[in-house]
Amino acid sequence: MDTKLFQLTEIKEAAGLLKAGELISFPTETVYGLGANAMDEAAVKKVYAAKGRPSDNPLIVHVASVEEVEKYVGEISKQAKDLMAKFWPGPLTLIFNVKTGVFSETVTGGLASVALRMPDNAATLALIKYAGVPLVGPSANTSGKPSPTMAAHVYHDLHGKIAGILDGGATGLGLESTVLDMTNPEEPTILRPGAITKEELELVVEKVYLDQHLVSKDERPKAPGMKYTHYAPNEPVVIVDGTEEQWRKAIMYYKNLGEQVGLLANENRVNQYKKEVTEVFSLGNKDNTTQAAKALYAGLRFFEKTAVTLILAEAYDSKGIGGAYMNRLEKAAGNHYFLEKESKE
Ligand code: TXA
Ligand code: MG
Repeated sequence: MDTKLFQLTEIKEAAGLLKAGELISFPTETVYGLGANAMDEAAVKKVYAAKGRPSDNPLIVHVASVEEVEKYVGEISKQAKDLMAKFWPGPLTLIFNVKTGVFSETVTGGLASVALRMPDNAATLALIKYAGVPLVGPSANTSGKPSPTMAAHVYHDLHGKIAGILDGGATGLGLESTVLDMTNPEEPTILRPGAITKEELELVVEKVYLDQHLVSKDERPKAPGMKYTHYAPNEPVVIVDGTEEQWRKAIMYYKNLGEQVGLLANENRVNQYKKEVTEVFSLGNKDNTTQAAKALYAGLRFFEKTAVTLILAEAYDSKGIGGAYMNRLEKAAGNHYFLEKESKE
């Protein structure tokens, strides 16, 4: 199958393919999604096949309006209404108790709930409206790889497997939406951190909880997707969280082991060490977490095209979107931080 790159003037054509049961990748404010008609089970099955995604991992259903939600969920709590009013369209996915019989088990992974989100991207909202149906939309990467933040990333992973990509340029935020479980409205619980933080949510609902796996690394995550290896490039990633001295030691240590070291770090660090390592990718200003979040996945993907065999990656402060940045980076690194003792072993 040829994968067509659709421009923003060709949204109707792309919507036609969705209606016909084909897969179209769409841009959002977070990452690119892999769209299929959520009401067409055969089309949804193709999504799992194209991504190589485990079938117990449910999909987010993307809607074009708040009103639509009533069609898919039983009772909408006041808390959920307030959250949608404040944050939709935007990077917040809400988990609701689903109305029985609306979505197939292929969409919900057989759970009694469904994940809904209204993306903040005019082209994609138009695409959903023209298609006339809600769209499932997992991130449009091969399962386990970093999510795509550009049409070229989607093409790299999925060309030949999907009908088209709606090219909306680079995505704004660069990390997937915050996933908030609202199945018990008295206990809104963050299952996946994103650009919208616990503190921001607590300006709308009284108290927001964190799923245990975000607090203790031993807990099994409640969002099925969070238990898989994720966001990982082909090369191992090691996080460096520390002083200049630590960075020097880490670089030396891995070079001595014969690794071709890649540096995924802030601008200053990249400039300082670029002559000593194989490749570098700048995450931008050292104090700008927003910029780092936006660049993270492109950076992880960059090293796949190089001779680098090991990536040393920069830890950022976990305030604001930094929490989501560190969550994704820790997953990409399998929680491997460079420790002083390593350099002494
Ligand atoms: O920003 C985003 O959310 C992107 C864009 C494309 O919208 N989409 C995305 O989808 O990240 P995906 O499939 O890669 O991640 C969906 C996450 C997974 O961790 C999945 O397990 C969880 O949401 N999820 C989906 N339905 C759920 C449910 N009913 N209960 C708990 N977790 C659920
Ligand atoms: Mg994903």
